[in-house]
Amino acid sequence: MSLLSNHLINWHKQSGRKNLPWQVKTNPYKVWISEIMLQQTQVKTVIPYFLKFVERYPNINSLANSDEDEVLSYWSGLGYYSRGRNLLKSAKILKKDFNSVMPDTSEELQLLPGIGKSTAGAILSLGFGIKAPILDGNAKRVLVRYYNINDPVDLTSTVNQLWEIAENNLPENECDVYTQAIMDVGALICKRSNPLCSKCPLIETCVSKKENKHNLLPIRSPKKEKPVKKLYWLILQNEEGEILLENKKNKGVWEGLWTFLGFKEEDSRREYIEQLNENYTVIMKDKRIKHSFTHYKLDIDLQHIRMHGKIQNLDNNKVWFNNNDNMKVGLPSPVAKELERIKKNDSNSFLQKI
Ligand code: ADE
Repeated sequence: MSLLSNHLINWHKQSGRKNLPWQVKTNPYKVWISEIMLQQTQVKTVIPYFLKFVERYPNINSLANSDEDEVLSYWSGLGYYSRGRNLLKSAKILKKDFNSVMPDTSEELQLLPGIGKSTAGAILSLGFGIKAPILDGNAKRVLVRYYNINDPVDLTSTVNQLWEIAENNLPENECDVYTQAIMDVGALICKRSNPLCSKCPLIETCVSKKENKHNLLPIRSPKKEKPVKKLYWLILQNEEGEILLENKKNKGVWEGLWTFLGFKEEDSRREYIEQLNENYTVIMKDKRIKHSFTHYKLDIDLQHIRMHGKIQNLDNNKVWFNNNDNMKVGLPSPVAKELERIKKNDSNSFLQKI
């Protein structure tokens, strides 16, 4: 066994995390769900989502028999919604082609949408106890610092080199302990900034620490600025206090989620409002919110109006939602936040009236 894996495994037995909800009575299904939720998301954020999700969907079949609206309602606020959509698609594939059993090879796991090589490795090692490598952000940082790799970690050549290192360090036994250990050391000790080297089980043999360069690694190629897209939202409320939401059927980051009426141009929003024939009151305008995605940023301008008439012939992707009902649909987090704010305002003004 390599020195690295030996130190990591011993450390985990003393100090690693062993009681995370997906580690208790674990199985490959729970590991799969947790690994998908943990992509780009911290453990403390994931825990309540994971608990509710596996309570509602305890196995592949219950998930496969659900629908996108309900699955996304369990994802509301967690972000990166394609992860939730992919879980449902994968569960349907597992039901149809794999007898509702998680496969135990990397090739088969990677056939499922949302599962790449590292997630497959985590499911194999943590869920099945099979010897398989991972290379998520935390593991990358540990290996880059330990071996003092000075090339940008986003380059394919560096990634290939790191996969080779990850494979070479796999222990014959206890690969599950090793995998959890490298994840935990990456998350809790070998942190991006201010790493806690004095607590690190690898301090004696970490090359970048020896050269006092650990704080400079990992190196990334210079980032391009994300493009900014503008979006004009119209929060339309009717006399009953219900809010019009539309389902994003078109492909995109919010596909399948429910949002306020959205316009690419301010003029189109104005035209839409004008055809309501002045039968409305402006509640709020000129509010701006920003939202960041992996590849671009959204700059959203909000206008909130209460209309007094009715809209005839509503398209079937638009629904009046009662903001006081517990909505079992997926909402992007800025929509959920605005609805929460409106709910509070509405209940305050209701209280003022009585
Ligand atoms: N990040 C990704 N997978 C994880 C796991 N199993 N435990 C803690 N953090 C993680």
